[in-house]
Amino acid sequence: MKGIVLAGGAGLRLSPLTIAVSKQLLPLYNKPIIHYPIATLLAAGIREILLIATPSHQSSFERLLGNGSSLGIEIRYAVQPEPKGIAEAFIIGEDFIGSSDVSLILGDNFFHGVGLGRHLGKYTAVYGAQIFTYEVSNPEEYGVLVLNDDGTPLSIIEKPSDHISNLAITGLYFYDNSVIDISKNIKPSIRGELEISSVNEVYLRQNLLSFSPLPRGTLWMDTGSFEGLHDAGTYVRIVEERQGSQIGCLEEICWRQGWLSDSDLEHLALRSPSIQKKSYLQKLLAI
Ligand code: TTP
Repeated sequence: MKGIVLAGGAGLRLSPLTIAVSKQLLPLYNKPIIHYPIATLLAAGIREILLIATPSHQSSFERLLGNGSSLGIEIRYAVQPEPKGIAEAFIIGEDFIGSSDVSLILGDNFFHGVGLGRHLGKYTAVYGAQIFTYEVSNPEEYGVLVLNDDGTPLSIIEKPSDHISNLAITGLYFYDNSVIDISKNIKPSIRGELEISSVNEVYLRQNLLSFSPLPRGTLWMDTGSFEGLHDAGTYVRIVEERQGSQIGCLEEICWRQGWLSDSDLEHLALRSPSIQKKSYLQKLLAI
């Protein structure tokens, strides 16, 4: 399965931070936000990645991440000229996707949990669509999945005014190859965007939409608001300081996946401009 990280958008909620800088390049504690969704894909075993950015920020992402070869992965780039909706990612990414299955992760979504990569990896052989839900106490702020009495998906409702369901749909989606055609055929919404919900509704009508609740104890956050960005940063800081292990360290994940050898990791440690990063990577090798 290939992976798309969607890192365009207007970032209006974080203005003025996002006037000159891409939202996904802002710091989430000690790393750029974009590291975390990329880490989520890598942990699920997805190592061929297309990063979609706005035209004005693409070069900054390339400077940050390169082509991935030093990590044993592949990162390609494309632009979304205007924020015309999340589902446009599959039209922009058509050549990259080719005949593969594809996952999409929103560039401002933070996921963390013990064993989460392995859990997600179980769903990468997808038939139809696979979405991941998260129980929230404030469903009125999200798109939610409503279930039938037998627990199968019934409908998707954006920002419900009553508590019809507390299953928020997270910003990580796995699709089979028909997602390209589906995205080309949906109509833009009233706000002029190709909505990901419209794609999911097509799969739902065909009885091909599956969902998996993220395990209890997993954290999912949208970092696109001041509160979300601050809270996720505090979470990363607390976990990293208490446990001495890093969240979203791309080198570590690629090494644990077996895509980097010990000597590759040692080489990356020696090349790291940060003393803390160097000693963290060397400590991994010593364990
Ligand atoms: P949103 O947070 O819904 O939108 P936004 O990033 O423009 O921010 P705001 O609401 O504050 O204006 O987008 C979710 C993610 O998807 C985010 O990482 C940006 C990305 N995105 C695109 O890349 N292109 C798009 O057309 C849209 C709608 C979102």
